Amino acid sequence: MTSIIEAENLTKIYKMGDTEVHALDGVDLRINKGEMLSIMGPSGSGKSTLMAIIGCLDLPTSGSYRLEGLNVETMTDDQLANVRSRKIGFVFQQFNLLARTSALDNVMLPMYYSGAKSKERREKSQEALRIVGLADRMHHRPNELSGGQQQRVAIARALVNNPSILLADEPTGALDSKTGTEIIALFQKLHYELGQTVIFVSHDPFIARHTERVIRLSDGKVVDDEKIDPLKAGAPRPSEIALLKEAHH
Ligand SMILES: Nc1ncnc2c1ncn2[C@@H]1O[C@H](COP(=O)(O)OP(=O)(O)OP(=O)(O)O)[C@@H](O)[C@H]1O
Ligand SMILES: [Mg+2]
Repeated sequence: MTSIIEAENLTKIYKMGDTEVHALDGVDLRINKGEMLSIMGPSGSGKSTLMAIIGCLDLPTSGSYRLEGLNVETMTDDQLANVRSRKIGFVFQQFNLLARTSALDNVMLPMYYSGAKSKERREKSQEALRIVGLADRMHHRPNELSGGQQQRVAIARALVNNPSILLADEPTGALDSKTGTEIIALFQKLHYELGQTVIFVSHDPFIARHTERVIRLSDGKVVDDEKIDPLKAGAPRPSEIALLKEAHH
């Protein structure tokens, strides 16, 4: 198995006047290509801090982080931004779409800096929208889409540069439970059918049950790292996901 993430002894210390907050306190993490896992833990345990480092939004105070063999912790801001745009697809709780812009233009956005020709950008974006089941909604603006459809657009946007990792922070937090289930099924499809590496950050045990590994943080430390069988935990099977997908066409 190829490791996609190798992190050793990560710390993140925030200095607040005279006091120090140890948001991460010696985290070791190895994640293989194609894994689907969730990072859980109580409020303040360091999940968002770890997410920001994994996603190349921030650097650790100490420790090493290799992303596909690249030593991230020694990079400049420009290098970090470059790695982030090529290797990481972000999905957020609040979708973060541009309001006055069609689904297609929202998905094309991350490609403006990739140097790709406009025809290629359009074709890849259309393909990403097809993958998430929105072939018939490409010209709708966000306010002409349901919450679940908006999150699908955000997932298509995260996919369009063919990222090494999809990082999803509470991706069902703003959705009702039925729509949330459909979004999880979509992530499962990306994982099972396309081999996409997916990392969730969530409070929601429902999300954890649908992943194959759960890493628990407490006070900036990894306190548990558990492999689970999502089929035994009652998650939908890939065949059921295919049915869900068809229901969307
Ligand atoms: N920019 C910052 N400056 C100072 N302290 C910070 C900063 N960001 C986070 N912290 C502190 O670091 C610790 C970890 O915060 P973090 O946001 O990673 O927690 P979390 O697990 O994501 O919590 P939640 O579930 O509430 O989102 C907390 O004690 C927090 O107060
Ligand atoms: Mg957080």
